[in-house]
Amino acid sequence: MVKVTVPATTANLGPGFDTLGLALNLYNTYTFEEINEGLVFEGCPDKYKNIENLVYQSFAKTAKLLGKNLEKNSYGLKITMDTHIPVSRGLGSSSACIVGGVFGANALLKGNLSKDELFKIAVEIEGHPDNVAPAVYGGLTAAIVENGVYSVKYSISDKIKFCALIPDFETSTHEARKILPSIVSFKDAIFNVSRTAVLLKALEEGNFELISVSLKDMLHQQYRKTLISEYDEVKKICLENGSHAFFISGSGPTLMNITNDPDFIKNMENSTRYLKNKWDIKFLNADRSGVIIK
Ligand code: HSE
Repeated sequence: MVKVTVPATTANLGPGFDTLGLALNLYNTYTFEEINEGLVFEGCPDKYKNIENLVYQSFAKTAKLLGKNLEKNSYGLKITMDTHIPVSRGLGSSSACIVGGVFGANALLKGNLSKDELFKIAVEIEGHPDNVAPAVYGGLTAAIVENGVYSVKYSISDKIKFCALIPDFETSTHEARKILPSIVSFKDAIFNVSRTAVLLKALEEGNFELISVSLKDMLHQQYRKTLISEYDEVKKICLENGSHAFFISGSGPTLMNITNDPDFIKNMENSTRYLKNKWDIKFLNADRSGVIIK
């Protein structure tokens, strides 16, 4: 039996569209067990208990690369899920499923693929690297895809805390990508390139003034906010309560803040009470380890 624990992730961090990602201390754990026959799921809604399940799909794809064809061999597998990352909210739940399945297969089937090789398989399944990289390596990452995938890790100050506002509605990443323009202006490109570079140093130093200036974006958030009900109201409340930076987590709809104020969450709970949607508020830290296999 193997247990794979994968952190939630927040991608983009404002200006670093499709590049930056950060692991958070909110986790899904997937347990993989060999059984006599069949495929058994536990701990997930019935609609996910089938071969389309992304954890299973990722497990099966990796198993195939390890020379084991699950369908032909009628392999017996039980997958038990203990999930805390909300689904379709921009917190990396699909990357967690993929990383869980890929690393679970390698561990259970005693494959000898390295962490970097498993990372590449997971990125291939996900299609973009910015959530997968922090889910695998932990911390703050930047990744590029060019004839393969490259990822580097940056340090992030312990002073930095995150406060996520997770609404009771979903948005689709597909829709949130479709809404983006195919051409951006030179001015907007410079806006984001300069801020991404400065933001990385600001996060490393825990320099909140520099974070406020650099964690801004002109490439995606202005278009995507139209898909997030009450975006403007929530932004106003967060800034009034002293958020150092406010941004869409991944493709949304979760709205993220950077803060160092322990009272921020209490103030937010009071201020968001009268909004139309229900916003679940979570105070989070960076996860530094990434995927853990036991
Ligand atoms: N970088 C991606 C996007 C993350 O913003 O569309 C979505 O998972």
